Amino acid sequence: MAALDPENLHASVLLSETIRLLEPKPKEVFVDATLGMGGHTKALLETEATLRVIGIDQDDEALRAAKERLSGFSDRVQFVKGNFADIRKYAERADAILADLGVSSLQFDSETRGFSFRFDSPLDMRMDAESDALNAAELLQQLDEEEIANIIYRFGEERFSRRIARRIVERRNAGNPVSTTRELAELVERSVPRRPKEKIHPATKTFQALRIAVNRELEVLEGFLKDSVDILNPNGRLVIISFHSLEDRIVKQSFLKMSGRCQCPPRLPACQCGAEKLVEIMTRKPLIASEEEISMNPRSRSAKLRAARKLA
Ligand SMILES: C[S@@+](CC[C@H](N)C(=O)[O-])C[C@H]1O[C@@H](n2cnc3c(N)ncnc32)[C@H](O)[C@@H]1O
Ligand SMILES: [Zn+2]
Repeated sequence: MAALDPENLHASVLLSETIRLLEPKPKEVFVDATLGMGGHTKALLETEATLRVIGIDQDDEALRAAKERLSGFSDRVQFVKGNFADIRKYAERADAILADLGVSSLQFDSETRGFSFRFDSPLDMRMDAESDALNAAELLQQLDEEEIANIIYRFGEERFSRRIARRIVERRNAGNPVSTTRELAELVERSVPRRPKEKIHPATKTFQALRIAVNRELEVLEGFLKDSVDILNPNGRLVIISFHSLEDRIVKQSFLKMSGRCQCPPRLPACQCGAEKLVEIMTRKPLIASEEEISMNPRSRSAKLRAARKLA
């Protein structure tokens, strides 16, 4: 294995663990389902000189950045604009598949795309800026109060979700709907009590929740994991890095089910979940970032990595 490029170590979460578990070998074909800025893929291509990677991202800006960063490897990377929910369309077979879920720093640090309250911009949050899905402002316009509250509670684990949803709908009814990041951040700040010891901004959870809803991040995950195992070659590896407890729960349960462990509720007369032994789980417990990595890259704080190997 070649030495890892230190430039990557800062940005790409759990990089050396990911490479180790993906086990790149000569002439193999990998799918990076969340190419982002190509950090993990670059390290993989550097590690194994004959490896090829199909890199998928739904974000054109990410693909542009990745193409530039990976320009030295263009004969070994195929760039695909698309959603990993359609992985079967983009890859027939693979020796390993990686998904590093969630937002990239390119998205989170964008001043115009609405992912962060650090910049005032339209409240968009679509990772695929060309999709016809509703953006965050449109969701807040169209959903009813209870649906908004549920999104903020479930995906953001925000205790004051009902209060926030009520204010969003009050504003909307007064003919002044929330349409920018600043408006939403201020509304949330006014809706939740001050928590003096709290380190994160009060709007963090609400923004995360909306992003997950806008991009249907949890809805596509289980199908993607199943399809990934289908297209893996025997002994193929699947590595998933998640950043949210609901995401990690889906990964954990899907892996257990695909390792043959029934996930049905107790006392059901017969198994109905379709558990079938297709993989061996490589990480009994999820891997997490070291203190050192967390201090260099705070985003790695909530990362959980799980890996599985398809049975021969
Ligand atoms: C955390 S970043 C990946 C960073 C990358 N591993 C690196 O080292 O540079 C996640 C990327 O996945 C993309 N993404 C998230 N969900 C996706 C989906 N369902 N289909 C395709 N791309 C997705 C996002 O647009 C984002 O660019
Ligand atoms: Zn079952």
